[in-house]
Amino acid sequence: MIIKPKIWNNICVTAHPLGCHAQVRSQINYIKAKGKVEGPKKTVIIGASNGYGLAARIVSTFSLGSATMGVAYEHAPKERRPATAGWYNTESFKVEAQKEGYPVWNVNGDAFSEEIKTEVVELIKEKLGQVDFLVYSIAAPRRIDPITGEIYASAIKPIGEKFTAKTVDFLTGKVSHVTAQPATEKEIVQTIKVMGGEDWFLWTKRLFQENLIKSGFLTIAFSYVGPEFTKAIYRDGTIGRAKEDLESKADEINRLIASVNGKAIISVNKALVTRASAVIPAVPLYIALLYKVMKEKHLHEGCIQQMRRLYHDVLFTGKDPKLDSKGRIRMDDWEIRKDVQQAVSDLWKIVETKNLDNIEDLGDIKGLREEFLRHHGFGMPGVDYNQDVELDIF
Ligand code: NAI
Repeated sequence: MIIKPKIWNNICVTAHPLGCHAQVRSQINYIKAKGKVEGPKKTVIIGASNGYGLAARIVSTFSLGSATMGVAYEHAPKERRPATAGWYNTESFKVEAQKEGYPVWNVNGDAFSEEIKTEVVELIKEKLGQVDFLVYSIAAPRRIDPITGEIYASAIKPIGEKFTAKTVDFLTGKVSHVTAQPATEKEIVQTIKVMGGEDWFLWTKRLFQENLIKSGFLTIAFSYVGPEFTKAIYRDGTIGRAKEDLESKADEINRLIASVNGKAIISVNKALVTRASAVIPAVPLYIALLYKVMKEKHLHEGCIQQMRRLYHDVLFTGKDPKLDSKGRIRMDDWEIRKDVQQAVSDLWKIVETKNLDNIEDLGDIKGLREEFLRHHGFGMPGVDYNQDVELDIF
């Protein structure tokens, strides 16, 4: 089958198996060229198939030499429908890591469920004994409560007042207005249930109760703060409440695992185009302008560069990581630099005040589009996209 990108409203519904394999390989090659660091050797990654979780898994394996167990919720190929990008990514990762002798286990299913937690627990008992590192990197639209069976859906909305801003379709560069109505109390609660820290806590608690946590264990989850432009929809909105909840859970986890000398930490990461961030109103426009500025200043990083810096320069240096006043690692330090934010603000004002209907030249729409497509295996050098390809190449 010949597979082309099919994108609507910044969501891509196809993925290319050979392209996904090529992009996983290119992230691996980048990390292999950066040398090794000493760190945990038995790692579990929840949300391992895309974006930050996939990058963390690659760095765990190829920088630390860790065995990895990766949990993700992806679809295998079916008849004439390609698999999701994450499915191809995890299978590609497995092939590449095993080639070099690294132990790899993939678990595909709903990480919020008791069944998947039990499957992982049994696999750890059988294959690893105990773990010393847990990376929690889920971005999900919904969650089924494991106890009550209730379904919660996350809503990306402002709180209190409606939010109107410009946004961009990065396929065309076309600018339009978006308005998001304020969230109801129920939507706030539901978003916290899905994207807050409860499930991170439950995972750690389960591993702790089953005695699967090694002394000196570390767990990390990813948060975001962001700039003034997106504050009403992000940090002051429903998703921001969820991130506050996630951040507060680090303290609870720290109390839980203190007896095994364990540590939970939050890393505030940089804004990047991933499947998750592409659908947040106004965020693609901000990212298009941010990429332009950060590339000009030679500060741009993708997921893999952020994770390399996190592991090599912050987490596993032999020294305590530098934290902000709230105890968080700030991997968004370059994004929030004054000169970077000032330059983005200048561009933002142009978009706001001039009647531009396309910002192809003003922002890095091309870079954004290319990166988004690469997340789905498109636009990779060396892949012939006009060739028929098997949907299941693994
Ligand atoms: P992504 O969409 O690229 O990856 C999400 C991962 O979660 C995938 O592996 C997917 O399979 C997995 N997943 C979703 N639902 C699941 C479920 N029910 N069970 C098991 N796995 C499930 O997302 P991205 O952007 O890498 O986000 C990861 C984390 O990083 C999120 O907490 C996000 O808020 C945070 N973050 C993202 C930033 C960005 O700009 N992309 C910036 C700062 C933090």
